[in-house]
Amino acid sequence: MSEQNQFVETLRWRDGRLEMIDQRVLPARFEYLAYTSAAQTAEGIRSMVVRGAPAIGCAAAYGVALDALRLRNASPADFVAEMDKAFDVLAASRPTAVNLFWALKRMRTVWDAVKEQSVGAIAERLLAEAHEVTAEDIRINRAMGAFGAELLSDGACVLTHCNAGSLATAGHGTALGVFRSAVEAGKKISVIADETRPFLQGARLTAWEMVQEKIPVTLITDNMAGFMMSKGEIDAVVVGTDRVAANGDVANKIGTYMVAVLARRHNIPFYVACPLSTIDMGIASGMDIPIEERSADEVKGFLDTLWAAEGVKIRNPAFDVTPAELVTGLITEKGVILQPNREKLVSLFSGNQLDDTILEPRGLS
Ligand code: MRU
Repeated sequence: MSEQNQFVETLRWRDGRLEMIDQRVLPARFEYLAYTSAAQTAEGIRSMVVRGAPAIGCAAAYGVALDALRLRNASPADFVAEMDKAFDVLAASRPTAVNLFWALKRMRTVWDAVKEQSVGAIAERLLAEAHEVTAEDIRINRAMGAFGAELLSDGACVLTHCNAGSLATAGHGTALGVFRSAVEAGKKISVIADETRPFLQGARLTAWEMVQEKIPVTLITDNMAGFMMSKGEIDAVVVGTDRVAANGDVANKIGTYMVAVLARRHNIPFYVACPLSTIDMGIASGMDIPIEERSADEVKGFLDTLWAAEGVKIRNPAFDVTPAELVTGLITEKGVILQPNREKLVSLFSGNQLDDTILEPRGLS
């Protein structure tokens, strides 16, 4: 990990509190906010202090631990009742990223396994699990990065949409982790960052991360991607994801579908960096993935600046779905699943030895 990447700790545990970088004010200000309860953490997720699927999962795990620690002197009955509320408030914070629900399920399983122990011991166990969810995320991102880096040729110019970097994870990033790993492997790559309207994760977060690490980055507005592709200026697309359905359809930041269609039109490979925790085998197709609708204010303007006519009707779906047929490969911590489909994902989760034709860790020919 580069020195700068080690420095950017999206979430950290300090003095019994969860601290998270306030991503709403980056890059103008770099500051941490402190959280002491599940309800506060849920509000931090909802209001986008922390965002990005894996980071949301880590925050939710810490949210559970915070309430368990807060209730460590409660009676067992009160502990159960209050903890159920903690799980509910966290589950209601954002609907699309499955990592949130994955992390809550993991925390509940851990609690079940030690439920006969004292409340204090349960709380300590839940905190240890939150630390492990976070540490594991960085290990997974490094494994994905190594597989993904092999897909990029030396000198490649890669487009990404939104922010799937250190800020969206516990560290290293998923899509940006692929770029970091490629650079660490000695490849000279450059990044095109889509601005990512309306919340500007590309302009504010991806560009900032890349500039910090001196990875060459060029910022474009979302509507410039087609032009750049038509000029032959983009060699590959790598994005993150919030949820992959059992048939390989990919939900990611609004605008990703547009990029995938353009990539297919121009014969550019379109990869999705996707930890296994982001694959939801309980959802048959992308049509069934819940898509968050956010406030109209995000589209009307930014901070104090208003640019849309008062009274205009506004839509603000925060994610879209890219059909599996447009996905060249899912980069997971186990390898790259080329042309993902239901059969391949079922095999992946079957626990059986994986077929070499499904997993191509050495990359594309
Ligand atoms: O609304 P956000 O900022 O939480 O959306 C984030 C994304 O869409 C990311 O691409 C996705 O969560 C993957 S992050 C590794």
